[in-house]
Amino acid sequence: MKVLLVGDGSREQAIAEAFSRSVKQPRVYSIMKLINPGVARICKSTAGGFKRGEPTDPVQVADYAESLNVDFVFVGPEEPLFHGVADEVERRGICCIGAKRALAEIEMSKAFMRRLMWKYEVPGRLRFKAFRNIEDAIAYINEYAESLAIKPARQAGGKGVKVIADLQAYLSKEKRDVKTKHAVAVFEKYMSEYSDIEDRILLEEKVEGPEYTLHCFCDGRTVLPMPLVQDNKHAFNEDIGPETGGMGSIKGRGSTLPFITMEEYNSSVEIVRKLVEAVQKESNEEYKGVVAGQMMLTDKWGPTIIEMYSRFGQPEGENILPLLETDIVEICEAIASQSLAKVKLKFREEATVIKCLAPRGYPDHRELAKGHPIWVDEKAIEKIGGKVFWSSVDTVDGSYVTGGSRACEIYAESETIEEASEIVEKCIPYVKLLDGWELFYRSDIGSLSLLEKRRRLAEIVREIYQYREKKNILGRTIDWIPGRGRIEV
Ligand SMILES: Nc1ncnc2c1ncn2[C@@H]1O[C@H](COP(=O)(O)OP(=O)(O)O)[C@@H](O)[C@H]1O
Ligand SMILES: [Mg+2]
Repeated sequence: MKVLLVGDGSREQAIAEAFSRSVKQPRVYSIMKLINPGVARICKSTAGGFKRGEPTDPVQVADYAESLNVDFVFVGPEEPLFHGVADEVERRGICCIGAKRALAEIEMSKAFMRRLMWKYEVPGRLRFKAFRNIEDAIAYINEYAESLAIKPARQAGGKGVKVIADLQAYLSKEKRDVKTKHAVAVFEKYMSEYSDIEDRILLEEKVEGPEYTLHCFCDGRTVLPMPLVQDNKHAFNEDIGPETGGMGSIKGRGSTLPFITMEEYNSSVEIVRKLVEAVQKESNEEYKGVVAGQMMLTDKWGPTIIEMYSRFGQPEGENILPLLETDIVEICEAIASQSLAKVKLKFREEATVIKCLAPRGYPDHRELAKGHPIWVDEKAIEKIGGKVFWSSVDTVDGSYVTGGSRACEIYAESETIEEASEIVEKCIPYVKLLDGWELFYRSDIGSLSLLEKRRRLAEIVREIYQYREKKNILGRTIDWIPGRGRIEV
């Protein structure tokens, strides 16, 4: 059996490792932009192979798959899906695990996803406005004083979202200026390289609460949920600093997180199911691949959708894939034959923690984070009980050089999140940049104090959303305007 894996990140290493554990012993092949040492190693050890190429080019990927005569293609990252890799691979008669272009729209266009939620009345929907030109966006910002999340309308690799609270009337003008400035930046900077979507900017009502990610496998008929993971987006300890693609993530023992109840987990699954049904209906396609809800527990709705993924999160996927006990080939075959309903999805119970190490400069000055030789003592890390996932690293003449994003991740599993976090901490000194450039990471991920902070926030929003539920006003926005009285918006 042969499998072609598309992508070159830590997520793809975790997927490749799951394949290497299969009793079917597939040969793993990969097409990568940067040669990820972790993925390359598995390709070699499974008697497969890899080549440097452009994972977002549907023809290149499909040609490689055809020349190898693979049994199926598994797409790791989102951009190849947005570029129609799954469509081209399937067009050539090869099975692809990965959403087709029209389905991946659920991630690619945040505006499309929000419209879909309103059209199909999916719970956890937020009020929003999408604009195609800057004048209309600014006119709206000038007209209404409200707290907003301002976003590029397209998935832009985790860049360009700013959440702006606008609560005090005496600061309204200042807030308006900040919002306008960021709206201009979304048009001129974050969206400038994308011409594949007409909406440019999304203004979304601001909500608050702890965030978590729910991944599911889909075959077009069945949506099978996986354990919850929580990612940490800010660059530095205590959730400060710029937003990143994720600095590390945690998974609790069993299937939920310590601050999310089983009931909330089940409602989240229902929401993701409804969204998958909606996007299938809207596109007239069957969703065969991985989908994930990036969610927030809010006082307005309880489980609320912030964003959808059409693939595994990175680093979140690496929190759960090492625990996957069900054979991944069995899962892929069931997706292909639409028999996922018969699959018993099993994960080991352990809590897991991942911390990402990034060269100084990431995320705002990636050119500074690029080109540093990196040294990782994987043997020492394994001895301590940790594990390395290689991330943005290239192999140049046999040595490893950073690619500008997070360079690698340390993973550990244990009985509790705190214990796993302690193991990761012990492994950190075994990763260094050989030219002396600094690597940074978040020591607080997985700590008891950060968990407590999430738990307290969850308790506050839970109390309010449960009250709303009782009063039958879940998800409703009720305001009071002087002279007009109580209105629902
Ligand atoms: N409506 C919102 N209210 C409050 N915070 C939000 C809202 N939308 C996004 N955020 C915050 O911004 C982060 C990034 O937004 P997201 O839509 O996930 O974009 P991306 O991950 O592509 O940058 C979220 O993880 C969340 O912390
Ligand atoms: Mg996000």
